[in-house]
Amino acid sequence: MSVLDQEKVLVLDFGSQYAQLIARRVRQQHVYCHIVRHDISAERVRQLGPRGLILSGGPASVLAPSAPRCDPDILRLGLPVLGICYGMQLICQMLGGKVHNAPAREYGRADCRLLTDDILLAGVPRQTQVWMSHGDQVAEVSEEFLPLAATETCPIAAVKHRSLPIYGLQFHPEVTHTPEGATILGNFLKSICGCTGTWRLEDFRRRTVAALRQRVGGDRVICGLSGGVDSAVTAALLAEAIGPQLSCILVDNGLLRAGEAEAVIREFSQHFRSDLHVVRAEERFLAALAGVVDPQEKRRRIGHVFIECFADEAVRIPNARFLAQGTLYPDVIESGGAPDGPAATIKLHHNVGGLPAELDFELIEPLRELFKDEVRALGSELGLPEEIVWRHPFPGPGLAVRCVGEVSKARLERLRQADAIVVEEIKRAGLYRQTAQAFAVLLPVQSVGVMGDARTYADVVAIRSIQSEDFMTADWSRLPYDVLARISSRIINEVQGVNRVVYDISSKPPATIEWE
Ligand code: XMP
Repeated sequence: MSVLDQEKVLVLDFGSQYAQLIARRVRQQHVYCHIVRHDISAERVRQLGPRGLILSGGPASVLAPSAPRCDPDILRLGLPVLGICYGMQLICQMLGGKVHNAPAREYGRADCRLLTDDILLAGVPRQTQVWMSHGDQVAEVSEEFLPLAATETCPIAAVKHRSLPIYGLQFHPEVTHTPEGATILGNFLKSICGCTGTWRLEDFRRRTVAALRQRVGGDRVICGLSGGVDSAVTAALLAEAIGPQLSCILVDNGLLRAGEAEAVIREFSQHFRSDLHVVRAEERFLAALAGVVDPQEKRRRIGHVFIECFADEAVRIPNARFLAQGTLYPDVIESGGAPDGPAATIKLHHNVGGLPAELDFELIEPLRELFKDEVRALGSELGLPEEIVWRHPFPGPGLAVRCVGEVSKARLERLRQADAIVVEEIKRAGLYRQTAQAFAVLLPVQSVGVMGDARTYADVVAIRSIQSEDFMTADWSRLPYDVLARISSRIINEVQGVNRVVYDISSKPPATIEWE
């Protein structure tokens, strides 16, 4: 079945992060969906054949002359349409309603009262909590619309068209702070769009494996492994599709976390039995990093040595025609690479290890359609162990950007030990899955201490643990004091050369997640 035939919904993007979250929520209801430009033509929508459209929220104001708009004809296609926040304001404005700048900007939780029964709100209690985030609101709708819900400051919090399948929500059903959000989205998808929920990862796996076999034929594919979940799932999918024609390369740069290279080697040489090339390059990386303290210079040098090591190994693998990469859907959208998708947005992630075009491989990116949570679920289905599937993200330049200041073998070892303790204790407390990233940072600072009767002057370790959905924003984890106490006392007792541990309580923004 091609994507064209698949039951699907399109999300029109009026501001990338909202659109991605909505798309994930739709897929969680087993309805395939992809994100398209907000100004996609009605004709193109018709060709793509969706069951319904969702107009996302966005940062603009519909009152601004330059506000992004959609093709008015998409509202005449007869397709169900759900406008969320900005999307609702736009629909109401286009169909004769009035939007104004609300007297009080509404942000956060609000009590919402249902005004009437409607299929969109079936199963939702008459009083329910919703999450609002808007400056403008719909002040008045035309005769054609019926208000469905209100909050104290927002008289039209949900609305429907009287004769067309067009709906609007001023609040955000896609965020977890709207407890009935999934019910409302489910009602739209199932009862209004008539979707049956056919999107299953098992089907994706079957289709992708078949497509990979066909594309690769008898040739060889090279796949770089980083220790992270994306590259591991890419490789596992290829292992299933083409088994012995897959060669994996792991560049052990000496900057990985404790036991990380071993875990990957164990999995891919034993479980998947793929041809695995481990490039032991610690010395090369350390030599390149000697004396370097500037974070961007560290990244640049690491990226450069990585490409050299990878390319040296890759050219030794005969008949390799393809290079596989674990690119995910958010990367595709944000880089402007999705067909019908939005234009590129500024990518805030730092990509290290982009391989040069002169390597002359054809690129294979089997995870291009998937979100991270889907990649994890697929990894479990493919038999990858929990340890790999649920591993916290780790920056390409590895421990080098957590070893603030100069990077040396001795400092890296100190950091690696401290980091292993942080992760171990967080796992032991059952908090690993609830934290997005937790790690140690070795500071270029010594502090005075006492041990026994002697004065010490030793290193300081910072602990960083954060909660985040998308890593663009993050908050520090409110770790229980006793977990922090155990981490601190174990690091000070077990890691030689450290006599002080501090906890980083900065959110992003303005701080970043990494220290460098
Ligand atoms: P920041 O520190 O910018 O990090 O808040 C956001 C996310 O990106 C990861 N990160 C990197 N990933 N190469 C990578 O592949 C890098 O140079 C890099 N720097 C930061 C970071 O771990 C977090 O998940």
